[in-house]
Amino acid sequence: MNEALGKLQELQQQALGAGQQGKSGKRDPRKTIEALVDPGTFVEVNMFARHRCTDFGLDKKHVLGDGVITGYGEIHGRKVFVYAQDFSVMGGSLGAAHAKKICNIMDLAAKAGAPVIGLLDSGGARIQEGTDALGGYGDIFFRNTRLSGVVPQITAIMGICAGGAVYSPALTDFIFQVNNSGLMFITGPGVVKEVTGQEISKEELGGAHVHTEITGNADFFSENEEHCIQQIRFLFGFIASNNKSKPPRIKPTDDPNRMDDSLIKILPPSTRRGFDINRIIEVLVDDGQFFEVKANFARSIICGFARMDGRTVGIVANQPLVYAGVLDCDSSDKAARFIRFCDAFNIPLVTLVDIPGYMPGVEEEYKGIIRHGAKLLYAYSEATVPKITVIIRKAYGGAYIAMCSKHLGADLVLAWPTAEIAVLGPDGAVNIIYKKELETAQEPDVLKKQKVQEYREKFANPYDAAFKQHIDDVIDPRETRPRIISALSLLEEKEEATAWKKHGNMPV
Ligand code: HXC
Repeated sequence: MNEALGKLQELQQQALGAGQQGKSGKRDPRKTIEALVDPGTFVEVNMFARHRCTDFGLDKKHVLGDGVITGYGEIHGRKVFVYAQDFSVMGGSLGAAHAKKICNIMDLAAKAGAPVIGLLDSGGARIQEGTDALGGYGDIFFRNTRLSGVVPQITAIMGICAGGAVYSPALTDFIFQVNNSGLMFITGPGVVKEVTGQEISKEELGGAHVHTEITGNADFFSENEEHCIQQIRFLFGFIASNNKSKPPRIKPTDDPNRMDDSLIKILPPSTRRGFDINRIIEVLVDDGQFFEVKANFARSIICGFARMDGRTVGIVANQPLVYAGVLDCDSSDKAARFIRFCDAFNIPLVTLVDIPGYMPGVEEEYKGIIRHGAKLLYAYSEATVPKITVIIRKAYGGAYIAMCSKHLGADLVLAWPTAEIAVLGPDGAVNIIYKKELETAQEPDVLKKQKVQEYREKFANPYDAAFKQHIDDVIDPRETRPRIISALSLLEEKEEATAWKKHGNMPV
């Protein structure tokens, strides 16, 4: 026995000493995992795995664990499966054994109903292993897809990720990207130069700023690895472990009946002026705590998690400070994806509306605003979680419908007295419906003013919609928090039957 134990300890030491990351100043992936999970909870599996490739000298490069650490632990006392790649082992590249380890914990996560977190640092498919490496990625993509909507999947881009190492993240629910060290591209600058002649740095091609601001591929910008770990743990607190459970409700720390006078002072006197919707969100949610998703991408819409009376909610809100809060291709994509995550994992949706419409213009039309904008209609209509909408100010045209109107299945639509619900804003509407009269009028300005006023009285208020029951109530803004919380409580056990189908065909 002693001999057997000795052998075990020797191999364990070998596996634990594999790779050089700790020594080269970079964080040791095991230490990263330990920082991520609750202290002392991590249990490693498949530590002794190694590749079986003998080509291109790999028979002399055996490293126990094969460049990825896999296992399970707890975050905030809840189960989680984790893997972390080690760039110091053949560039964190993925071969058959490496892939099998990741697939193993994904399969376990599906059975246990627990989220999967991947900490990535990989040059992609291990070139020497050829189709075994490609197949390994295929096996992971397959599981990413099959697990989608079953358990949450979170990825952190910690180092240089290329090829398959970026497509697997793209199939997960949320991507965190670490500034400077975290890079994502399908091919690095070398290949880009070879194929296109373009010279570009790694950071300009796929750094955290690029993916959180321009492409929208990453959801969270992390200042450094420690920040990234904190953010993942924070996100974890908001979300359910699987599609059959609810997010944990924490003991409320904020008065559910709190009414805040600042709400009646936030809107500027002119409806043409913007204001920061964050000021309203902060007042409405528990303790002003809001965790924004894709904060620097498609900023005319805001999506994120908060709590109301201790329950997680997903907030979707137009941001009047950015392009007056219009919906464009990117903001429609951003919101649709967020709504689908919330719906898949039982998070009620609270929508705050102040929107003049969809973005007009050749650029957006050519980018496919019809297809992209339709995603938002689809996502809200498909969602069966509690849906509560508050119309703050403008709700015009298709955008009124798209922002979780009653017609898309909202359970409760409330409006502030400042709400304006109509097909078009007063100026635009009068220019169209009185075009001929205005062209022939002796005093067109006077006529226009008069017609705008008539239109305002009829439509630029919430009452026409309230008379017709397109909205459920007009409320004092100060009542907004208590009214949302009472609706969340009312709808706690909401069930909505939908027709059987294999799956829908969302516009993509
Ligand atoms: C095998 C790899 C590797 C890979 C890196 N290494 N990538 N080994 N397969 N894919 C090894 C290097 O040989 C080197 O080993 C060590 O990792 C560090 O790599 P460097 O190049 O020295 O590091 P750096 O200069 O920082 O550049 C990192 C990099 C670059 C940008 C990731 O290595 C690179 O471009 N790698 C190839 C990326 C790629 O094209 N992957 C395949 C994609 S195809 P030594 O022994 O010298 O330390 C793919 C298909 C999946 O993934 C399916 C998609 C649908």
